[in-house]
Formats: sequence, C-alpha cells, structure tokens
Amino acid sequence: MSVVCIEFKPGLEGIPATQSSISYVDGQQGILEYRGINVGQLAKHSSFLETAYLLIWGHLPSEEELKIFEYDVRHHRRVKFRIRDMMKCFPETGHPMDALQASAAALGLFYSRRALDNPEYIRSAVVRLLAKIPTMVAAFKLIRSGNDPVMPRDDLDYSANFLYMLTEQVPEPLAARIFDVCLTLHAEHTINASTFSAMVTASTLTDPYAVVASAVGTLAGPLHGGANEDVISMLEDIGSVENVRPYLDGLLERKAKIMGFGHRVYKVKDPRALILQELAEELFDKFGYDKNYEIALELEKAVEEKLAHKGIYPNVDFYSGLVYRKLGIPMDLFTPIFAISRVAGWLAHWKEQLAANRIFRPTQIYTGDHNVSYTPIEER
Ligand code: SDX
Repeated sequence: MSVVCIEFKPGLEGIPATQSSISYVDGQQGILEYRGINVGQLAKHSSFLETAYLLIWGHLPSEEELKIFEYDVRHHRRVKFRIRDMMKCFPETGHPMDALQASAAALGLFYSRRALDNPEYIRSAVVRLLAKIPTMVAAFKLIRSGNDPVMPRDDLDYSANFLYMLTEQVPEPLAARIFDVCLTLHAEHTINASTFSAMVTASTLTDPYAVVASAVGTLAGPLHGGANEDVISMLEDIGSVENVRPYLDGLLERKAKIMGFGHRVYKVKDPRALILQELAEELFDKFGYDKNYEIALELEKAVEEKLAHKGIYPNVDFYSGLVYRKLGIPMDLFTPIFAISRVAGWLAHWKEQLAANRIFRPTQIYTGDHNVSYTPIEER
C-alpha cells in the first residue's frame, strides 16, 4: 500500500528515497559503517579496492576473489585512444570535473551494451569504471599542459599507479598508502546528492557509464564534492592565524557558507575528517609542514565557538585538501579524486537499485495557476 506523503520537505530532508544495506551513518554519534564495518576499521586494515568489492558485492572478498578482482582492474586501466584524443580537444582551462564527466559518458560509446540482467556485464562495467576513471583523471591533467598522458603501470597497485600517472614519478609507499586510505574514506556515504543522482539515472535502465557521468556532474557542485577545493582557497585567503576570526566574522555577516563545514546528517565532527586530520599530520611529519594546517585548526575552533549550537562542524572536505596538497596534487583535481573514490559507492547503489528497480517519479505540490488563456504577442 503506498503512503501518500503530502508534506513537502526541501531537499527531501529526512525523506527515505530507498531501502539500502550498503552504508549507515549516525549523524549524532558521528558513525559511518560500510556494510556494517566501521570506516575507521577499513581505513586501518583494508585497501580501497577491497573496500570497493565489499560495497559492491556486499561481503569482504576471499583472498582468491580479491586477487582476481585486483588483476582484472589492473588490466583494464588503459583508455581507448579515441577518448584520449577527445580530451586533446578540450580547452586546457576547462575544469577537470567537466572533462571527467564527458569522458565517463564517452566510455558508454565503446561499452554501452545494456545487458543489465547479465551478471558478467555488471561485473565488467564495475571493473572498467573503477579501472578507467583514475586513468582519465590523470590523462587530462597531463594533456591540458600539452603533454602525452602516461600509460598505467601494471606493476603498481591502484593508488601508487594513479599517483604515478599523475606525477610521472613512482610515489613513496607512505604517500600511496595515505592516498589509498583517502579513497576508502570517500567511497560511500548513503544517499548523498551524487548517489541519489546515480540512483535516479540507474532507475531508467540506462547504461552504467551514463549513471556515473550523471553522478560526476552532481558531485562537482560546491555544496557537495566541490567544497574540498574551495577550503584550500579559503585557508589561503585567510593567510594567518590572526586573521581567522575577522575573516570568519566577515563570512557570517555576509551569511556565506563556510566551505568544509556543516552537513545534512552529521551534527558532530565528520568521522572522516578526524581520520583525514591524522593522515595530514603523518604526511607533515614525513614531508614537511603546511602552515594552512594551523589556520585550519584555528578556524575549526572559531567556527565551533560560533556555530556549534547549529551542529556545524568540519565535514569530510575540510581536511582532505591539506592531504592532497601535501601529496603534490593540483587543487582542481581534489574533486575528481573524490569522484575516483565515490565511483565505488555509486556502482554499489546502481547494482542495488537494479535488484529492486522502480523508476523514480516523485510528485509535487502544484503552486501555479489553472485555465490561463493564451495572450497573443501583440497584446503583451
Ligand atoms: C559532502 O550528503 C553527504 O553525505 C555529502 C558528503 C558525502 O560524503 O557525500 O558528506 C560530502 O558533500 C560534504 C559537504 C561539503 N559541502 C560544504 O562543505 C559546503 C558548505 N556546507 C553547507 O553548504 C551545508 O552545510 C551543506 C550543504 C553541506 C548541508 O546543508 P543543509 O543540510 O541543507 O543545511 P542548511 O543549508 O539547511 O543549513 C542549516 C543552517 C542554516 O542556518 P539558518 O538559516 O537555519 O540560520 O545551518 C547553516 C545555514 O546557514 N549552515 C551553515 C553552513 N552549513 C549550514 N552556516 C555556515 N557555514 C556552513 N557551512
């Protein structure tokens, strides 16, 4: 029996859009679990690819399953030359999220066959998207500066290979490990805007490449994944610990949103922000300090004084940029890296949606007129 929900909630706040067993968030306690496992446990003991497998197939892989999965992803990292050539036509000033959305959709030109009832097709789409999205992100970074992209290296694991394709240097093991933990932390987060986008697109039974392209476009927004880039710009604008409070007062006077703070669900500090802070400190110990960190700590303290009563605390985007910068990643690639990771969550929800699909078609509360006559242009 369908229950008619007549109360309109802006942004569907608190309205369930699905039933899901993929992840769970407790916004009051600051808990995030992937298939029931606390994300802190996965950050400590797992890898991004093992976590992706857990999210998508619902259980931790056996040693054999993981070995085959890693082998398959490793051997699908290359991207068709036509997609690389397409990227060479993109303006070098274009944002990498737009380049990623275009190239993710372009994958559908080569692999779109929509055999959604065929488990092998589902698996191959998962492998291709997890394998090729990092290659396309790295490729555009090199192409926009007039260089040829670097070919993936099969002898490097997922995160080390991405950093290699991006920087043309094999990363230090600590850098690759910390980057891999960042991917695990960003992989899934219940029904956020880009995941909801993926689900709505999936519900029309289009191909998974269109699903991911739709989600990439949604993640790009500054209220969602795009905040991590804006956080670093804000910290640099602030410039010093002394300027934190005057700067914050200015933002609050203008009723501006403070990037990297606040969350629809978390009313305490995002558990991912806590772990990202530890990763940043580990990198600072090894590779040198970033003065923006002390500005960030001071800003966190100042925001807590002013906005804790509204449940406004750091979210996942507040400290991630400091980690990526220390890894030598350009700022405008922070959100594409968020996308590399979130592909795992989007694909998990794509698969779950297909298993019990009904096309999304919400209703509205109509506020317009009725029976309005047409006014000829000469009378307007
Ligand atoms: C992500 O959903 C997810 O799970 C997302 C994510 C994921 O993993 O997928 O966690 C990733 O997107 C993190 C969020 C990154 N975005 C930002 O950091 C941008 C800044 N944050 C805000 O835009 C905001 O907090 C949102 C968009 C994240 C949440 O917005 P809500 O839930 O719609 O909250 P709201 O805008 O209704 O604000 C409620 C109140 C308002 O005050 P009042 O009008 O009631 O007085 O809180 C205030 C807002 O002004 N507020 C903020 C604020 N966020 C909310 N005030 C200042 N700065 C902020 N950042």
